[in-house]
Amino acid sequence: MKQRIPTIVANWKMHKTQEEAKKYILDFLPLVSASPVNVLIAAPFTCLSIIAEHLKHSSILVGGQNMHFETDGAYTGEISLPMLKDVGASFVILGHSERRTHFLETDLVINKKLNKALQNDMKAILCIGEQEIEKKSNKTLETLKNQISNGLKGIDPLSLRQLIIAYEPVWAIGTGQSPHADIVQEIHAFIRAFIQKEYGDDLSSCLPIIYGGSVKYESLSDLMLKEDVDGVLVGGASLDPQSFAKIVNFSLG
Ligand code: PGA
Repeated sequence: MKQRIPTIVANWKMHKTQEEAKKYILDFLPLVSASPVNVLIAAPFTCLSIIAEHLKHSSILVGGQNMHFETDGAYTGEISLPMLKDVGASFVILGHSERRTHFLETDLVINKKLNKALQNDMKAILCIGEQEIEKKSNKTLETLKNQISNGLKGIDPLSLRQLIIAYEPVWAIGTGQSPHADIVQEIHAFIRAFIQKEYGDDLSSCLPIIYGGSVKYESLSDLMLKEDVDGVLVGGASLDPQSFAKIVNFSLG
């Protein structure tokens, strides 16, 4: 019996208009039973308020997929923490590999964003993961260790209670490929041991470490049984309410 409640996250990426988002939520809600599973939906900024409005009476959280580290200022095209909160977001995904790759986000920038979110009572999902080339040259663990230690540098350990770590191998995202569940378990155990060494038992035993990268309903039976896999971050398979509801309901156990 696992001590951590499963955390199931949808990452819609750059998909859905407000109307589509509203329809999704109306279709999705009756499909999932009220349950002890943390369900989070990361949606485009333009959909957050309509989703928050429709989730008012539910425990499902809505959040952003990125955020600037400053509160306000001359940052054309960016969005800040108070703006996210203003439209009902209670969490944010930070350091997703698509942000690192296409928008050149570095560990340093991700660290500032993470600090801002966690210091201001916003849950944050820190995404980490190795590139294919790092995997091939046996650098996976070293890469993950660097991403975690740089990402968390200087952050008040007390605020890390609001943190979720998502292990997302870059080569597995949107490709239909994924590591064997035994490998995912090994890597999650490594991440938890690293957190334990740096921050102690209290944090490491309650920290949700979730897996992302081509997750589908069929992958869950192997993944969710693993001791250190506390949930999943789902991209493609979260875009359809039926498909995401199946994933959430499976996680009820
Ligand atoms: P995927 O995306 O499930 O489509 O691979 C996961 C992610 O990028 O978060």
